[in-house]
Amino acid sequence: MTGELSPIDKAKFVAARRAAELVEDGMRVGLGTGSTAAWLVRCLGEMVREDGLKFRGVPTSTRTAELARRVGLNVVSLDEARWLDLTIDGADEFDSDLNLIKGGGGALLQEKIVATASDHMVVISDISKEVETLGAFPLPVEVVPFAWQTTQALIEETLVSMDVLGRAATLRMNGHVPYVTDEGNHILDLHLSRIGNARQLALVLNQIPGVVENGLFIDICDTVVIGYGDGRVETRDINQGTVEHDRLDFVETENLFTDLAD
Ligand code: A5P
Repeated sequence: MTGELSPIDKAKFVAARRAAELVEDGMRVGLGTGSTAAWLVRCLGEMVREDGLKFRGVPTSTRTAELARRVGLNVVSLDEARWLDLTIDGADEFDSDLNLIKGGGGALLQEKIVATASDHMVVISDISKEVETLGAFPLPVEVVPFAWQTTQALIEETLVSMDVLGRAATLRMNGHVPYVTDEGNHILDLHLSRIGNARQLALVLNQIPGVVENGLFIDICDTVVIGYGDGRVETRDINQGTVEHDRLDFVETENLFTDLAD
């Protein structure tokens, strides 16, 4: 029940709830991955069940696909949908230009493909993810398993000439074994502390053989919906230059709050 939700979860919930209202009948919508995106999927499930909302959802991970099906969404692949009206996803960091670090949940590759194939990308977040300069959150980079240590060395060498503060790369683990993404790859987390030129770094990282994709989302996101633990919601649209403030009530809906598995 909502009484058990932490302020952070309430903030994520109200951001997701507000963003869910952007979904209209007939749309094709990218569904992000992570705890905030999971709230979105639950909200959309409720809107499908109770309001008869009809749309097609393209999940960005097997986790999101499972949850989306469980709550009754019409799930299709990106190739079936071809192009999306909107993608709504969480983020690990966002700056004032709405450039992002993503991939803390390990789904950055599908997330970037899906967001790039969308007319609009909306990030849903609590305020703790806003930063002046990207980089405090370790930057996830998806690499192929073959010779991943060589790729790691190449990345660390490349970082010497980049405008970053740190350059250690660590292999993401799942217990005692390397984490494996939905595409069968590994993730190197780059501990950079501060990224001076995110646009340049995003391009340079993707030139390294063995790198599949990095978690910098540059010029992809249009809008951020920021939730607060007291129900306030702030919506910033970078294209229109607008900022809207609102407040949502926590509506206790058994179907929404009993299933808290991500
Ligand atoms: C998943 O790979 C990530 O990009 C998530 O979108 C990001 O880590 C945000 O996750 P939370 O909503 O759980 O904070």
